[in-house]
Amino acid sequence: RYRDPVAADEKMNPFAEQEAWEEHQIGKATLKFGSKDIKKQQKYDDYEFVFGDFIKAAVMDGVNVDQEELLSSVPSPTVKTTFEKIQSDRKTLPVYPYREELLRAINDHQILVIVGETGSGKTTQIPQYLHEAGYTSRGKIACTQPRRVAAMSVAARVSQEMGVKLGHEVGYSIRFEDCTSEKTILKYMTDGMLLREFLGEPDLASYSVVMVDEAHERTLSTDILFGLVKDIARFRPDLKLLISSATLDAEKFSDYFDSAPIFKIPGRRFPVEIHYTKAPEADYLDAAIVTALQIHATQPPGDGDILIFLTGQEEIETVDEILKHRTRGLGTNIAELIICPIYANLPTELQSKIFEPTPQGARKVVLATNIAETSLTIDGIKYVIDPGFVKMKSYNPRTGMESLLVTPISKASANQRAGRSGRTGPGKCFRLYTAYNYYNDLDDNTVPEIQRTNLANVVLSLKSLGINDLLNFDFMDPPPSEALLKALELLYALSALNKHGELTKLGRRMAEFPLDPMLSKMIVASDKYQCSNEAITIAAMLCIGNSIFYRPKDKQVHADNARVNFHMGNVGDHMALLKVYNSWKDTNFSTQWCYENYIQVRSMKRARDIRDQLEGLLERVEIEITTNPNDLDAIKKAITSGLFPHSAKLQMNGSYRSLKHPQTVHIHPSSGLAQVLPRWVVYHELVQTTKEYMRHVTQLKPEWLVEIAPHYYHLKDVEDLSSKKMPRSHCRSTKD
Ligand code: CDP
Ligand code: MG
Repeated sequence: RYRDPVAADEKMNPFAEQEAWEEHQIGKATLKFGSKDIKKQQKYDDYEFVFGDFIKAAVMDGVNVDQEELLSSVPSPTVKTTFEKIQSDRKTLPVYPYREELLRAINDHQILVIVGETGSGKTTQIPQYLHEAGYTSRGKIACTQPRRVAAMSVAARVSQEMGVKLGHEVGYSIRFEDCTSEKTILKYMTDGMLLREFLGEPDLASYSVVMVDEAHERTLSTDILFGLVKDIARFRPDLKLLISSATLDAEKFSDYFDSAPIFKIPGRRFPVEIHYTKAPEADYLDAAIVTALQIHATQPPGDGDILIFLTGQEEIETVDEILKHRTRGLGTNIAELIICPIYANLPTELQSKIFEPTPQGARKVVLATNIAETSLTIDGIKYVIDPGFVKMKSYNPRTGMESLLVTPISKASANQRAGRSGRTGPGKCFRLYTAYNYYNDLDDNTVPEIQRTNLANVVLSLKSLGINDLLNFDFMDPPPSEALLKALELLYALSALNKHGELTKLGRRMAEFPLDPMLSKMIVASDKYQCSNEAITIAAMLCIGNSIFYRPKDKQVHADNARVNFHMGNVGDHMALLKVYNSWKDTNFSTQWCYENYIQVRSMKRARDIRDQLEGLLERVEIEITTNPNDLDAIKKAITSGLFPHSAKLQMNGSYRSLKHPQTVHIHPSSGLAQVLPRWVVYHELVQTTKEYMRHVTQLKPEWLVEIAPHYYHLKDVEDLSSKKMPRSHCRSTKD
């Protein structure tokens, strides 16, 4: 019983996935063998990835069937074959021969640094070995990942290997999504989530092992975790601590953890040929596409897949589209090119596509962000195309400006990327930059995130853990002191800290929310304005980021019109987001409504989940759910209570000047107020792209600033001296 894969949904919504299901009746339960498209369904006949889908389908049906039972009752014997194959595959991983030695080393040492090439089995195998060796009888095993996609996908893989349902014995926990249960013993989680767990359980008593994985990534949360786990290891001798990383910087980790021994898993790395371009590429996207097509056209299909490193979702979508377009014209004598995107916001259901084996006679091209550098192992890659860029956050503590800029990668990154091609056989890496660039322009290592980010959130967490003396915290690499001071200053402005730098009652409540402190403040302050209901909706919508509206190429005008509706009355971006959510809610969360309004239903569902969780947290901090939908000023005052440190005032020339730490900024073109140019605004964040832009902007009355934050603004700051000199009409004329 297959459904037409390009039926109704597809026509209505270009983003809808195609689905096809085959149903099996087992006892009272209907189990669905599912797949995302008909191609995979065909593959079902040679029974490749059926097992995972099978589990998912069982979960989808809400049927609680035990794995053993499934195996014995499923009509086709092939499911069993798959399970057995998975078990024998486990034994071929580079880590397997070192299983006993590794367990002995863990037994003998409290802290162990483990290094091994990407794909050697560190993430998926070591926690299982520990479980098999009995560690889980003393507590859970945590394994942290810097990226949510990695946490989810690895947990899915391990649950498959162990033959259990994801969320039972093996689960994952990422911000706003807890896929674990009472039963969970192997818990994959983002490093940020383990950091939050410290707030509730400062000694991590429920864990027997903590594995800080992908340590070389040196994310902000990982760096903070280092300090915290090092500390608890001293008074919890029973806790095992594993620091695992791809081959970089192992000595540095060992030094930091009081000379912990290093366990090396010898990799199987095949030789990789490196090719550079002769001259710098003017357009690396185009160069990447041409290179991929050249490989595809000239190399025999079946000899290996292609991996292209791109900087983000937008680039991936562009390349995806161009590749599709260009391969259409190639004719039938060229093998099929299967395009597989992977990036953080890719819907979970679509992520597994990259792990599917490439069908005979076809070639896969994986378009990935940095996530494929070390976090995820994709089998079968023979060619790597490396344009040499990454989207990297940088932060200027003086101005508070955060920018996500496309930046050249480091040599260490370039080598990791190249290594992805030599995992299963000799590989080739095409660097879209010159050898001169590589040797002379690239830094040796990537600067750790802690030295290039806003620290407000982390400082609030540390303060609520009772760590007051941040300047003497045991950082592996300390953050710049200006950045620490800036964070303290912001938290003081928000009244989360008192003037001695101690956490206030308000700060303690703010720390309960896993949000940017300014948004947490908005929520806590909304109590006063009787609009906590609205505040949590706005915060949830902001968490979704930029993936709410979509603009199909052929319907941009319609999409833009639909969007303008929500901005009616120039209410500002926060109110527009609120309106989107509430309108959706009024249709009883209708999918059809989303299609009609060019809104991504998936993002909205996520916003609803997040909102539900924020509602739960309101209870924890004893804030009642109050609603005040018609009092626009009240809601805006709540918003201002969180965002007031980010205020800006219109200038004669149509640009804005921020009030504190004056600098010239602009309203982001995506804002509903970009054409309106209100005189006073607050904004959520400053981003630097082509200009310094304020994103998510709300207009306000300047006197609110003094009313809400008298400790921060004085009347003279907000006196509107220029108002008489600058009539509204002038503002409009400068809008372009
Ligand atoms: O952590 P490390 O890079 O050392 O390796 P791993 O992530 O444990 O991967 C070991 C093997 O599991 C690789 O061959 C992967 O292809 C496979 N794997 C998979 O098939 N699906 C996943 N979601 C994750 C890993
Ligand atoms: Mg790993």
